[in-house]
Amino acid sequence: MAEQKQMGKIKVIVCQDKQEVAREGANIFAQAVRENPAIVMGLATGGTPVGMYKKLIQMHKEEALDFSRASSFNLDEYLGLSGDHDQSYRYFMDENLFNHINIDKSKTRVPDGKAQDTQMSCRKYEEDIRAAGGIDMQLLGIGSNGHIAFNEPGSGGDSRTRVVDLTEGTVRDNARFFEDGSQVPRKAVTMGIGTILEAKKIVLLATGSNKADAVTKAIKGSVSSAVPASFLQHHPDCTFIIDREAATGL
Ligand code: GLP
Repeated sequence: MAEQKQMGKIKVIVCQDKQEVAREGANIFAQAVRENPAIVMGLATGGTPVGMYKKLIQMHKEEALDFSRASSFNLDEYLGLSGDHDQSYRYFMDENLFNHINIDKSKTRVPDGKAQDTQMSCRKYEEDIRAAGGIDMQLLGIGSNGHIAFNEPGSGGDSRTRVVDLTEGTVRDNARFFEDGSQVPRKAVTMGIGTILEAKKIVLLATGSNKADAVTKAIKGSVSSAVPASFLQHHPDCTFIIDREAATGL
């Protein structure tokens, strides 16, 4: 059974294993979709949310969880990759979630990695989020260095959607997804920390011992751009769902 604790403003749910993290995360999202079918979801990529997306697909198929009125904005995208590249985050979202539920694809948004004018396209992404009424529930993972989306250490708490350089460590962490590790892009488009903090509710998932240090610093460390996830301590409604391995430092 998952154990709950309140650490400052952050609610922490400590699960037995990553399967339970996936179940808890899916239950929170499913309930939000049922309560507000026209929900604006903020979605994330990476290995961590895959299990939760599988559960949501199962709930859609077996329990008629209905996404027909929902819309979504993804956190980030690699710069230079188009949506049909099999390592792009657009491709990831289609494969791992959108193709298997009844969401209207035209209402799913991922930053454009191939925009001609990146500044304008970043500004437009922010405008589109605002025009949609803001993000109701934002899903996050966490990088082993404490990054959220692609906001690497040094990112300001008021940063907005923009092009960023990835750190060597992040490039290394993400190389496992690429057939040829040297192909990992070194730049990305990411929502800013300020953008993320405007979501009405935030749910962060983390599993495995390689995330323990980042999770500890995010929840118990001082709030600073050295650990971008620490800015979540300021958010009024943020829940961390983590497994026991990621919780060892709490
Ligand atoms: C990438 C993504 C992040 C994600 C992180 C962790 O850097 N941009 O949004 O949280 O990876 O990924 P994983 O879940 O694979 O550990």
